[in-house]
Amino acid sequence: MARELVTTFLLTAFVILLISRESIAAKKPHILFVLADDYGWNDVGYHGSDIKTPTLDRLSAEGVRLENYYVQPICTPSRSQLLTGRYQIHTGLQHSIIWYNQANGLPLQFPTIATHIVGKWHLGFYKKEYMPTNRGFDTHYGYLTGAEYYFTHKRCYETCGIDLRDNLDVDKNQNGVYSTHLFTKRAEDIIANHDKNKPLFLYLPYQAVHSPLEVPEEYVKPYQRIKNKARRTYAGMVSAMDEGVANVTKALKQHRLWEDTIMVFSTDNGGQILSGGNNWPLRGWKGSLWEGGFRGVGFVHSNSLETKGKINRELIHISDWFPTLLSLAGGSPSNITGLDGYNVWDTISKNAPSPRTELLHNIDPLFTKSGTPAYSGTFDTSTRAAFRMGKWKIITGNPGNGSWIKPAQVIDSGEHHVENTFEDTNKNVWLFDILDDPTERNDLSQKYPNIVKKMLTRLQAYNATAVPAIYPPPDPRADPSHNGGVWGPWE
Ligand SMILES: *[C@@H]1O[C@H](CO)[C@@H](O)[C@H](O)[C@H]1NC(C)=O
Ligand SMILES: *[C@@H]1O[C@H](CO)[C@@H](O)[C@H](O)[C@H]1NC(C)=O
Ligand SMILES: *[C@@H]1O[C@H](CO)[C@@H](O)[C@H](O)[C@H]1NC(C)=O
Ligand SMILES: *[C@@H]1O[C@H](CO)[C@@H](O)[C@H](O)[C@H]1NC(C)=O
Repeated sequence: MARELVTTFLLTAFVILLISRESIAAKKPHILFVLADDYGWNDVGYHGSDIKTPTLDRLSAEGVRLENYYVQPICTPSRSQLLTGRYQIHTGLQHSIIWYNQANGLPLQFPTIATHIVGKWHLGFYKKEYMPTNRGFDTHYGYLTGAEYYFTHKRCYETCGIDLRDNLDVDKNQNGVYSTHLFTKRAEDIIANHDKNKPLFLYLPYQAVHSPLEVPEEYVKPYQRIKNKARRTYAGMVSAMDEGVANVTKALKQHRLWEDTIMVFSTDNGGQILSGGNNWPLRGWKGSLWEGGFRGVGFVHSNSLETKGKINRELIHISDWFPTLLSLAGGSPSNITGLDGYNVWDTISKNAPSPRTELLHNIDPLFTKSGTPAYSGTFDTSTRAAFRMGKWKIITGNPGNGSWIKPAQVIDSGEHHVENTFEDTNKNVWLFDILDDPTERNDLSQKYPNIVKKMLTRLQAYNATAVPAIYPPPDPRADPSHNGGVWGPWE
């Protein structure tokens, strides 16, 4: 009798366990993805920065800090990989960004993730079909080009135009409202109006902390000790963003969504030292193939993490979010062909070894060639490329300025995008052991020619899968003076 009771009890417990596991598995999480713009390695408190980020420090301490996490060196490439899970060589966006006046966009055949976008798009808008709400998003509040003024929401090139939209409509009523406040408020509104029984996927690509260097004065006050003016203003911009993240997470708590939220925070590329950002002690900065260009600040916060409060040193890349978040949302990444990202949820949540053993940083066929091919019959090393294989990193072609810059040396070069200066040299192959030498001080390409050759063979194999780069010439019809003073589709 007692034995039967025990058996019944065990069976019941087992069934209950099964049911509760089922309902946990079936319950789709809410996802908040915060993407900061041009936010450098040395610009977050927990990396020992001179800038204070109490919210990011706390959230990441409660979650998992990703310390071997990579993004792309510039804006459009990172965003395209995040939203599609594909390398640039597979979308045709391997060169530069999508400029404001190029008839170009994220190719329509690639599906995207996420449902609400608040903030920066920067994946093309020359035709209506390329606008976010026609590319898989239910709503978009934000802007389309690469950078603009934070208070006027105008982008000025040849002429100035307003670049702020509420879905397809132009919003001309926000002059004077700082964009970090504006986007935070919209994110809060979306959260307040969300039916908490349905999964929310909010993508929040802040304008912060890209140039121009603009912020309400109150945020700069705590930083009077920073003597470098660009750095001081930038620090204030970071503080405003940190406060915005605090406000958004508070709204999620208030509306009882936070418990079931998976929050990801990521930068889109390295800090721009020509506009207040900093990546010390990493080498180089935004736009380059050095670690300062794309080793990214990133962390995850979620109740479902098994290893909370940990630092994660597994290799993770921005293209991995697509399959990872898709599968958390109940989708099936294996049903989508041609993904370059991996589902890294076990790596993040349980510290399991990363399924990613290689990382193609990029192959840019249109970048100015540098020097002559170092080896015959393999990948042409005059081409700009970078690739990781385990601990090894190879760089070929022209990697961009490789200086090590401290915070006091950052520059304010004005609000416009500044191209990197490049070392004028015929050297076009570098090899680093990144685990041992993350600051890229010891080039080992002469010492390990066989590793170099092996990696060039891999690069050649990747290159064979590349689609042609799409990079059309400027189109004068983009000018807002032809479109009622507004940036928007012109074809
Ligand atoms: C955060 O919320 C506080 C209180 O409502 C508000 O004063 C502040 O401007 C908000 N900050 C941002 C960045 O939205
Ligand atoms: C994945 O594909 C299989 C086979 O076509 C299909 O049965 C399944 O429903 C798909 N899964 C999802 C989540 O779309
Ligand atoms: C990549 O492949 C293309 C097309 O076959 C070829 O023209 C190009 O030279 C290759 N690039 C490199 C760097 O080897
Ligand atoms: C690299 O950048 C630094 C900082 O702006 C500058 O001083 C240096 O001249 C640059 N090097 C080259 C080769 O352009």
